Amino acid sequence: MPDKVFIFFFLLILSVTSARAEDGTGYMGSPNHKLLGLKRETLSHFRFYCHDILTGTNPTAIQIVPAVPQFNKTTWFGLVRMVDIPLTLEPELSSKLVGRGEGFYASGSQTELNLLVVMNFALTQGKYNGSTITMLGRNKVFSEVRELPVIGGSGVFRFARGYALARTHTFDPNTMEAVVEYNVVLSSTTAQNKNKNSKPKLVLIKLPTKPTIVLSSDIRS
Ligand SMILES: *[C@@H]1O[C@H](CO)[C@@H](O)[C@H](O)[C@H]1NC(C)=O
Ligand SMILES: *[C@@H]1O[C@H](CO)[C@@H](O)[C@H](O)[C@H]1NC(C)=O
Repeated sequence: MPDKVFIFFFLLILSVTSARAEDGTGYMGSPNHKLLGLKRETLSHFRFYCHDILTGTNPTAIQIVPAVPQFNKTTWFGLVRMVDIPLTLEPELSSKLVGRGEGFYASGSQTELNLLVVMNFALTQGKYNGSTITMLGRNKVFSEVRELPVIGGSGVFRFARGYALARTHTFDPNTMEAVVEYNVVLSSTTAQNKNKNSKPKLVLIKLPTKPTIVLSSDIRS
């Protein structure tokens, strides 16, 4: 009997970590997908429209740092604009809201008009409600199609990586209002989300002898 218990825990350790934490680097092994409640990678494609509104009573992009003065009339180098923009299914602002884009644009070039974009797409519909996609990249605004890397995500988008293609749908030079179409393609390791309302939690796995291994990766049970 004790042998069986021993083998059981031995297998448990093997399935949790493929290496013991003995190399002094902090590396704890390669967690098992199933134990973390993770599926293998899946590809997803999302399309939505962002509404950049600079003027009027409800602007969605607001300047928080002015440009370095000598670049005011050229590349606006130094300008930082904080954004909280609606994401809609169709180009019309009145169409269905699927989330919000929160982040900032910073004018990052002294010689052309390029933006550093840092953006979290916080989705609100269906099984994506509460999950986020993080994009960080260079937006050369006057190019027909701009590609920005997707560097991560949360919720069903854990371990996400991919890219977003941005294309200006309409631009009004008088109001500086832009509607931008985003096609986001990402690969993620979707969490098996059996109970949508459960909070992410720590996994504690007790070993027969000390110490207790704490897998800091939160899962949904
Ligand atoms: C550039 O912008 C700054 C801040 O908005 C302003 O103080 C400055 O007068 C502007 N310079 C020019 C040349 O427009
Ligand atoms: C999204 O989740 C929030 C928080 O759980 C909830 O209040 C909201 O009604 C949900 N929205 C939709 C469209 O399901």
